[in-house]
Amino acid sequence: MRKKIVAGNWKMNKTFEAGLQLVDEIIKELDAQPASEVLKIIAPPYIHLAAIAEKVILLNEFGVASQNCHHLANGAYTGEVSTEMIVSTGAKYVIVGHSERRLYFAENSELLSQKVDIALKNNLTPIFCIGENLAERNADKHLETVLKQLSDATFHLSASDFGRLIIAYEPVWAIGTGVTATTEQAQSMHKYIRSEINKKYGAEVSSSISILYGGSCNAQNAKELFACEDVDGGLIGGAALKAPDFVTIINSFPA
Ligand code: 13P
Repeated sequence: MRKKIVAGNWKMNKTFEAGLQLVDEIIKELDAQPASEVLKIIAPPYIHLAAIAEKVILLNEFGVASQNCHHLANGAYTGEVSTEMIVSTGAKYVIVGHSERRLYFAENSELLSQKVDIALKNNLTPIFCIGENLAERNADKHLETVLKQLSDATFHLSASDFGRLIIAYEPVWAIGTGVTATTEQAQSMHKYIRSEINKKYGAEVSSSISILYGGSCNAQNAKELFACEDVDGGLIGGAALKAPDFVTIINSFPA
């Protein structure tokens, strides 16, 4: 059985105090609805990582992710944070290849493949993001776009390393727009991604890897998205900033 995962990507939101308060609220809400089998991941800005990791370390199926990492081990790169440093905070995951980083920080597949490599080397699990923009979807190029993003940055991995990834499909046109992919669009893309992983790495890897949906997933639509056969959870932006909504999403898997 594949791992069910809900990850909250806070992006550039929440002061240090407000972030810790949000985590306390999430933990409190979860007391009432524990969702013990769902892996819950919080991806705050770097400044929160150590303090949040300390808060959740003893909780069941709870982890912390950074939203980014540098692709090299260390050195004179002012303002950057290495995977080794991230691990030292207690974080176990890192988001790699988010469309906002591809778009605003010009991150390309070559760079992302290095980030994936150094994350795995330091035992940090990459949550690797892929997704087409609106023009690509309208031109019917969404499948080839997503496959190229995936293969260019990750298909150099061995099967055992690839199996350590979490994949997130985030159509750019659905991020922060309030427009969500339909269940048909989400399911057919997730199925396609899994079939391509199957072609490259075989059934054992493809059937066990978790593929998350992201893009205006919220407390209202999570249930129908998570009911799709190949959707194993969500990478949540805006709705992860409100504890009741985030916990409702965590509790949206079919019984
Ligand atoms: P929204 O849920 O705000 O659309 O953001 C999705 C996302 O980018 C998560 O990484």
